[in-house]
Amino acid sequence: MIITFGRAKYLALTSFRVKRARRNTAEANAGGSFIASTIETVQRSSELAVLSREHHVALELALRLQRATAADAETVTEATLDFWRSEGREHFRVEEELLLPAFARHAGADDADIVRVLVEHVEIRRRIADMETSGRIDVAALNALGKSLRDHVRHEERTLFGRIEQALEPEELATLGTTLHAIGARHQPPRT
Ligand SMILES: [Fe+2]
Repeated sequence: MIITFGRAKYLALTSFRVKRARRNTAEANAGGSFIASTIETVQRSSELAVLSREHHVALELALRLQRATAADAETVTEATLDFWRSEGREHFRVEEELLLPAFARHAGADDADIVRVLVEHVEIRRRIADMETSGRIDVAALNALGKSLRDHVRHEERTLFGRIEQALEPEELATLGTTLHAIGARHQPPRT
């Protein structure tokens, strides 16, 4: 489908919308809507949709991290490390090796949004490395990681991805999308 998007570019868009999981009323009021407010209303180009689907998973984890208490901290820690090893680390690598260099051709490597993403990647990697090596459960650290992860994904979805969709030429975006979809297809379950 070809529709107008943003200021200048015509992009092939999917009508990707993350289906909000059914939640009880209390949870929805307490913050379940923040995932929707970050992703659900975004018309993401099909080329970057694979990464946005992974962002949805990351936001669900961020919510659990922010709400973690002593009662569930061990479970949330295990879920976080499982996510990191199976998905998060690869997601960061793809953004660092493919997405950001493609955008840097237009914006420059020292673009403020590129710098912010890289700095946040380092910080999140540091927090997870501490979690892996310390061997202890730290509720405050879980809550802080949740906020970092949420803010990071929000920035990518609300600011960076839109800029990339506008900056790249259609052929560049298509090439990037083909590579991202091939990577997404290898994910289990596939994210294509
Ligand atoms: Fe990301």
